[in-house]
Amino acid sequence: MDKLVVRGGNPLTGPLTVSGSKNTALPLMSAALLTDGPVSLTNIPDLKDIHTFRRVIEVTGTEVEHLPHEHRMTLNAGTLDRAEAPYELVKRMRASFYMLGALLGRMGKARVSLPGGCAWGPRPVDLHIEGMKALGATIDLDQGYVVASAPSGRLDGGRFTLEPSSVGATINIALAASLARGGSVIENAAIEPDVVHFCEMLQAMGAKLDGIGTRTLEIQGVDSLSPVDFQNCPDRIELGTYMIAAAISGIPGKPVDLIGGRADHLGDAFLDAFRRTGTGVEILHDRIRVTPPEELRPVSVRTEIYPGFPTDLQAQWTILMARCAGNSKVHESVYPDRFKHIPELQRMGVNAIIVGDEVMIEGGKSIQGTNVMSTDLRASVSLVLAGMVAEGETHVLRVYHLDRGYERLEEKLSAAGVDIERVRYDEWADPN
Ligand code: UD1
Repeated sequence: MDKLVVRGGNPLTGPLTVSGSKNTALPLMSAALLTDGPVSLTNIPDLKDIHTFRRVIEVTGTEVEHLPHEHRMTLNAGTLDRAEAPYELVKRMRASFYMLGALLGRMGKARVSLPGGCAWGPRPVDLHIEGMKALGATIDLDQGYVVASAPSGRLDGGRFTLEPSSVGATINIALAASLARGGSVIENAAIEPDVVHFCEMLQAMGAKLDGIGTRTLEIQGVDSLSPVDFQNCPDRIELGTYMIAAAISGIPGKPVDLIGGRADHLGDAFLDAFRRTGTGVEILHDRIRVTPPEELRPVSVRTEIYPGFPTDLQAQWTILMARCAGNSKVHESVYPDRFKHIPELQRMGVNAIIVGDEVMIEGGKSIQGTNVMSTDLRASVSLVLAGMVAEGETHVLRVYHLDRGYERLEEKLSAAGVDIERVRYDEWADPN
């Protein structure tokens, strides 16, 4: 296995470049299954989740040509002949459940494994399933698989209200509705930039969508969709992570440039909270310039769906708060159990405690390097951030979680001034 060894104290001077969005690339890849011609995608990040999803898609008979270093992928679903997503792959990545909507739309049937558990606690898919039923699908559960079919070979379309609003369910239902016989309406649809960009790709393929970026998404089904060349958008969570990295470990008063990100994709709540810490943010044409202050100020946040504060940035925010003299709170309202990083951070001396769905942080204490364990993607990057400002060496174990969602993190950070390296290790070796 690999670990990241971070030696704290070296300032991050930048620049850092933001890769393509993971959470947008996955639905864009799914959309390619809705047409029988070649779809070319660019700015696809070279990440483990993308490789996993490529394999999920290949099971269907779709041909995929992937050039990871060039960040390009061409998918040709003209050869798609198997409407199945097996457990062995779906269990590795929940977003594989997008195959339900893609296959139902394209083939009128799908057999997709239920994703199962998640490190953050329960993450149901009931809205995905109820949404497909509302479009006219019959659904059975068979040995851990969702078996879905459109009784007349094609979905009718229908109306469905999401409660709560869900990124994944909006995408899944939109995939299925695009090739339905009739029209569909998704009420309380997600308006995250990932969803908007995905809808724009569907539109470029000839899908009839209205209300993109609003809470009411209307989709008039069409008989077929066309191949398209489409560019993925930059990763907003990677951008937010680097903004926090710059604020905590840059040199006060010295700007750090983050290239290629879209600040507007972060939502106002994050940008407002970030500025209130005293950190400077300039949004320039091709970069975001972050200037660390002499002294960071504590700012409490509450995660919400977009444009609220992103749940995918709360673990990183905890480290920013640990660097401020003063007390603050991080309230998690999207996934109330998403605090697996806290016990690891406590081992590093971070004074944070979990009270219900909140973390109380007493900032300004010294952070010490030690061995810590990654538990999920965003929790892992918070441990790397902590290591960057810790005294001594931090070993972030089980780094495969990070590889799911941060492209070449250690290479990017080390080129930007951080002392970080990837090292192989034996997890079960006895300590000497
Ligand atoms: C996506 C992101 C994830 C992010 C999350 C919230 C991807 C691959 N993942 O996950 O990184 O943290 O959005 O921004 O894009 N819910 C239900 N029933 C359902 C589906 C969801 O109750 O069937 C609830 C969830 O428990 C959660 C809320 O809806 O409380 C929002 O979740 P959702 O937007 O669906 O998250 P994902 O799409 O799974």
